[in-house]
This record gives sequence, C-alpha cells and structure tokens, in this order.
Amino acid sequence: MSDARVATVLAYHARSKHARDRYAAGPGTLDWDAQPKAFRDWSGATQLALPRGITVAEITWSGLAAPREPLPFNTQNIGSLLRLCVGLTAWKEYAGSRWSLRAHPSSGNLHPTETWLISAGGADIEDGLYHYQNLDHALERRAWQSDTRSTGVWLGFSSIHWREAWKYGERAFRYCQLDMGHVLAAVSYAAALHGWQPRLLATDSALLAHSLGTDRADDFVGVESEEAEVIVALHGTENAFPMDWKNWAGKPSLLDAKPLYQWPVIEEVAAATRGTPPATSPVSAHPIAAEVCSDDIHAAQVILKRRSAQAFDGQSVMPQAVFKRILAGLLPGGSPVWNMWTCAPRVHPVLLVHRVEGVVPGVYALPRSESAHTLLQTAFRETFAWERMDAELPLYQLIAARAGKTARTLSCHQDIAMQGAITFMMVAEFAAPIAAAPAAYRHLHWEAGMLGHIITLEAEAAGWRGTGIGCFFDDAVHEVLGIKNDMFQVIYHYAVGMALDDPRISTLPAYE
Ligand SMILES: Cc1cc2nc3c(=O)[nH]c(=O)nc-3n(C[C@H](O)[C@H](O)[C@H](O)COP(=O)(O)O)c2cc1C
Repeated sequence: MSDARVATVLAYHARSKHARDRYAAGPGTLDWDAQPKAFRDWSGATQLALPRGITVAEITWSGLAAPREPLPFNTQNIGSLLRLCVGLTAWKEYAGSRWSLRAHPSSGNLHPTETWLISAGGADIEDGLYHYQNLDHALERRAWQSDTRSTGVWLGFSSIHWREAWKYGERAFRYCQLDMGHVLAAVSYAAALHGWQPRLLATDSALLAHSLGTDRADDFVGVESEEAEVIVALHGTENAFPMDWKNWAGKPSLLDAKPLYQWPVIEEVAAATRGTPPATSPVSAHPIAAEVCSDDIHAAQVILKRRSAQAFDGQSVMPQAVFKRILAGLLPGGSPVWNMWTCAPRVHPVLLVHRVEGVVPGVYALPRSESAHTLLQTAFRETFAWERMDAELPLYQLIAARAGKTARTLSCHQDIAMQGAITFMMVAEFAAPIAAAPAAYRHLHWEAGMLGHIITLEAEAAGWRGTGIGCFFDDAVHEVLGIKNDMFQVIYHYAVGMALDDPRISTLPAYE
C-alpha cells in the first residue's frame, strides 16, 4: 500500500483536529446570505416524478426486523424507499427563514450526499442512471444505454464536498463521510421495511465514478465537483451494474456563485482515500433479547418524524429498557444496518452516562468485538476498572464519575453534550486499518455515522432524541481515555436525551 497515501490521510486527520486552543482551519467569515444552494438539479435531463406515498406505513417499529415478503420493484415502492432514506421530511420556518429537513441528519443541515438510482430491467423505470432530486421527489435521467448485461436496481451515492467545506473548512471531509454513514444506515432501515436486502458492493471508486458520471470533468466545468462514494444493490443477483453509458444528458447546477475560500487538502484526502469498501467477514450476531418499546409506533413514522434535538431538558432519566435497546442495536445483528454492513466492527462506543435508570453516572465502554475489548483495555488508562455491567451486553464500567461538564467541554463546549442522558464517543481502530488500506478512513467514518443513526432512530422510537456532534476536541478526548497514539482515534460524538422543542419554529409538510 502506498505510504504516500497513508501519510496524506494521517496528516489530514491530524490537521483537521479541533483543540481547545485551536480549531481546524475554517472560514474566518461566513456570508449566510450567500450559502450554497441546498439542492442540485441537472438541467436538460428528463424528469420523472415519483409517487409520494409510503407503501409500508403500517409496519410497526417492533416488527421492523421480522422477515417479510419483498415488495415488487416498481416506482411506487422505490419512491416510498427514497422518501424514507433520503427524501425531505419537513419544512421549517422561523422569522422569515425557511429550510427543509431530510430523513437522515446532516452536519449543519448542509446535506453533501447526492443520491443516484440505476435501473436495468429491474423495475418499471426505463433503463438508465438517474439523479434523485430530493426537492421534488423526482428522478432526473442523466444517462442511458449500456452494453453491460445485468438486471437490477442500484443506489449510488456521491458527495459534494463544498456543501460542507463552505461552512466547516478543512474538517468538512470528515463530516461528508459521517453523513454518508447516516445515509447508508437510513437505506438499510428503509429497505428492511420493503422486504429488500440491500448489498453494499465492493466496487472501486474509480469504476463507480465512471458509472455515476462524476469523473466526466467537462460536465462539471464551472460548478462544484462530486466525489463518488459507494453503490448499494437493492435488487438483482449480479454485482455488475452498468458502467459504460453511451448517452448522457444534463448540466449540474451551480451551488455557490461566490466561494470565498478554498480548502485543497479536502481534494487531497479524497484522492488518497479512493478504493474499495471492506470485504465481508463472518461476524456472529450478539444474542440480546433487548426489551422492545411497549407502544407500537409505526416505523415509517419514527423515520419521518426523526429530528436532531437542539437542546435537552437536563433532567429526564432514561429507562433501562430504552438504554439496553439502543445499545443492543449497536451490536452485530442488532439492527438491519448490520445485514448490509457486514465487515468486522472497527468503531466502538465509549459512553459518558449522565442520567440512566440503574446505571451509576460514569464512563463506560461497549467494545463491539472480543478482540477490540482486549485492544481497548491496553490502549486506555491503566486505572480503568473494566467492570462488566450486564450479563448480555458487553458493557464495561471504566470509572464512576459525573461527566456532564467533561462531555460538554470535550464536545466544543456544546450544552447538548451535558444536558442529555448519555454522550457517546465513537472510538475507531485507526492506524492499522488505514495502513492496510487508506480508503478505510472513509469507511470508519461511515461506520461511526451508522452507529449514530441507529442511536437516533432507537431513541426516537422510544420518545427520546439524538443529536450528532461532529465538533469535539480530538486529543482532549484521547487524554481523558488515556489514548497515547493513533492506534485508536475518536471520530464522532452523539448525544441522546429528552428533547426540548423550540415553539417559535413552525413545521410544514415535506411535499404535500
Ligand atoms: C455528522 C454530523 C455532525 C453534527 N454535528 C453537530 C454538532 O456538533 N452540534 C449540533 O448541535 N448538531 C450537530 N449535528 C446535527 C445537525 O445539525 C442536524 O442533523 C441538522 O441540523 C439537520 O437537522 P435534523 O437532524 O433535525 O434533520 C450533526 C449532525 C451530523 C450528521
């Protein structure tokens, strides 16, 4: 593996760290009136409106994992799936401003991820490559006619780095990757509801860029580029998907007419991390009989009403059953996400427990594999107790402590990290996977994003709420945990609590 690529990744990670006395390089000033457009469209591409109905509205959250007959691949069900993973879920209004929210959270609500659909004889959609236009819930036909002999339906994803970089500067690449993880988890849940079994394909980024047309430099002259990320097969037995489109249409819209800054390090780390998603490895499911939430809320409702809390009440105590249910979801076999993301777990939550019924406030670890348990024990502070707390869950108390203020300080002084019931810190196996394949830098962030998504949906289903926290002081977290080198690194925080809603903000429907 090229040492230069590994060095680029490690250097990027180091320079994009926030510290108490130095935030990663970002814009000195922000012109809020000139922020990039939230939606990209492809002018000149034929639009196909998708049906807006949710065809799986009756399935309950507790019935989500039950095996079910796959629904037919048609525009009704594809439209339903897209709404439940990447569609708009609401418009918000406050003091003359209006903004939309989507089924998955996104750093700064900036939504760098673009969704593509490839159809090849697999549905009642003319064969071709389509861009999903979230604003109108429509498909824009970007390419058609290919010699690849395959049948199926695939979802492809690309990132527009500038959407995040505009606000967050150099750290933005990390946010794009965490968002990608949320999107993949959202796809897993939505697909499970339709009885579909999505498969993440081990396709090299260059081939994917060719298929999605993100490598067609001439088409992107004068507009923001897109970075191909990953492809997921929804349907079809073959791994081959059309890569050699003969006809192309459409011109991507410009998102930001006056970019004030440039962050070349983002394109450098993007290039260094191109590659193939990790191979499947046999991971045994964790046998956890986590208690299911009593009220049988509809799963589609949970997904459509999911929101990130902007503040927590600072006092509600999370019931044990909810706590266990969230943790069980993070373990292999505990969520539909792990049917699609089938490689060995490499990201492990450390919990700062503030208010959970029957759990002494303190620092806890949830190693998601046996080997990680041993490795984390060696990497963390020697004084940590590692006392097993539960017969089923691999949950260990490291130290009893009131850690609210620490959680807030470590999370860039954000109150949400202190006011909730738990603050999660996602610790990734780092140096070894990246040395073996620099593309792992993306995949570790995807895994962390998936963990965040599971936390958020499980919390939402139980009447609680989560919020991703991309802003944290990396090395201050390492200091607290005793991590002395880059064998492990923290890559995401997540807070969960009882949300306080802001009554001044009004909510309007997504599409109706
Ligand atoms: C990767 C990531 C990082 C985030 N970081 C923060 C953060 O540091 N602080 C915060 O208050 N919210 C954070 N959020 C939450 C977003 O602001 C929120 O998802 C976005 O405003 C959209 O709102 P919604 O989740 O309700 O749809 C983050 C979300 C993601 C996915």
